Amino acid sequence: MICCEMLNRKKCYEFLNMRKKQLLLLKLGIVAWLLVVYVLFTYQPSTPHLTQDGDKAQSLTHQVDKLESELRKQSDFYNSLVERLRSLQKQQEEQKSREEAEDLGLQDLIPEPPIQVLPVLLIACNRESAVRRSLDLLLKYRPNQEQFPIIVSQDCGHKPTRDAIMSYGDKVQLIQQPDLSDIDVPVKEKKFKGYFLIARHYRWALNQIFQKFSYEAVIIVEDDLDVAPDFYEYFSATYQILRADPTLWCVSAWNDNGKPNLVDIKNGSSILYRTDFFPGLGWMMTKELWDELGPKWPRSYWDDWVRAPEQRNNRACIRPEVSRTRTFGKKGVSNGLFYEKYLKQIHLNEVFVPFTKLNLTYLIKDHYDPVFDREVQNSQVVSLSEVKSDRLSQGNSYKIVYHTKDIFKRTTKALGLMDDFKAGVPRTGYHGVVSFFYGGRRIYLAPSNNWQGYNPSWS
Ligand code: UD1
Ligand code: MN
Repeated sequence: MICCEMLNRKKCYEFLNMRKKQLLLLKLGIVAWLLVVYVLFTYQPSTPHLTQDGDKAQSLTHQVDKLESELRKQSDFYNSLVERLRSLQKQQEEQKSREEAEDLGLQDLIPEPPIQVLPVLLIACNRESAVRRSLDLLLKYRPNQEQFPIIVSQDCGHKPTRDAIMSYGDKVQLIQQPDLSDIDVPVKEKKFKGYFLIARHYRWALNQIFQKFSYEAVIIVEDDLDVAPDFYEYFSATYQILRADPTLWCVSAWNDNGKPNLVDIKNGSSILYRTDFFPGLGWMMTKELWDELGPKWPRSYWDDWVRAPEQRNNRACIRPEVSRTRTFGKKGVSNGLFYEKYLKQIHLNEVFVPFTKLNLTYLIKDHYDPVFDREVQNSQVVSLSEVKSDRLSQGNSYKIVYHTKDIFKRTTKALGLMDDFKAGVPRTGYHGVVSFFYGGRRIYLAPSNNWQGYNPSWS
């Protein structure tokens, strides 16, 4: 219309007529081209031996079938092509919005891969102020509630303790062990009844974690533990290693020989080890391990039962040089057996180590064992008195060799190390070796070269 207003009307109509003719010709051309394509597509030269009517019908059916299958194939092909294009388009759009967000400095808004939820299970009973002290520190250092939900499981039905836990509101979740009935204990073990109650509580609480709440893993603490500032960081990072290495079955925050004069407080905060000894006291396990241990969980002394060869099955735990937990439970079921001598002296780590930013794959067995064994092998053999004398040069590592249980005991007692064995394994031991730090030197208390493995009769 604009054309007809702007130009001479007659010329304009002539021009439009010409366009109409051109269009008509084009349409005719397309129809003719389609006809040619159709004829070419459907034309099949007649085959001389198909002269009968039946044969013709058969050939027609055959051709229709062929055509149908051909069309199906083409349709499938185009469908998958469309799918692929759509997904490419989606990827492109996501990439574009990511780039735009980055340009605008909005990286924080870009969704990260899903985080691993690691619930903390706090085992409580009737120590009201202890549970508060534990919870205060656990909450103080918790980086976020979604990743580390805290579940307090209370046994014993003690009301003041329950009220204390409930006073934390929705920052923690309270669950209560329902079976408060008296427990059957063999006469000889009457004074150990507490261990039966603890084992019953653990079984119930862990079943809740894995069967009711369906978590993938859990960090277990007790109501008389202080935790270090990097407690969560430590477990987040080691969770990946625990999952990656089937020869590991736990990660513990505890160093049994973590007294200040036996660890490298100044430079050793980031050092981690493998150990054949199950340390407990702030430890992590997977759902798969609970599936294995839960059905045969013992009636008492659960931690020593876990340490038995039938359960451990040659698996190791990760433990730190400097403890990430400390116990203040002087009064407990075991009545402070080791408390004064060892437990209360354990040094709690104070430096935050960004473990999730470090490469911890050196802890995987295939990497760790050759390095560890060589290091112990190459350390200079020294005597106990040399170690105590402070005459050895700094910066080197040394080795005290033990051949018998008595030598082991004498050496550990003289140095203030824990001297007991569980199922023949010394505390913190790996391949029979106890590593510690003494007078600024790394020392290995190591078995002789012909070591045949742990002797379960050593206690
Ligand atoms: C020791 C261990 C502990 C282990 C326990 C069982 C140390 C320092 N502690 O307990 O890790 O779990 O042996 O072998 O080595 N509790 C209940 N129900 C009860 C009594 C206690 O659930 O009837 C809970 C407590 O709240 C606490 C845990 O069990 O969380 C351990 O009790 P505690 O009194 O601290 O005993 P320990 O001698 O330290
Ligand atoms: Mn305790």
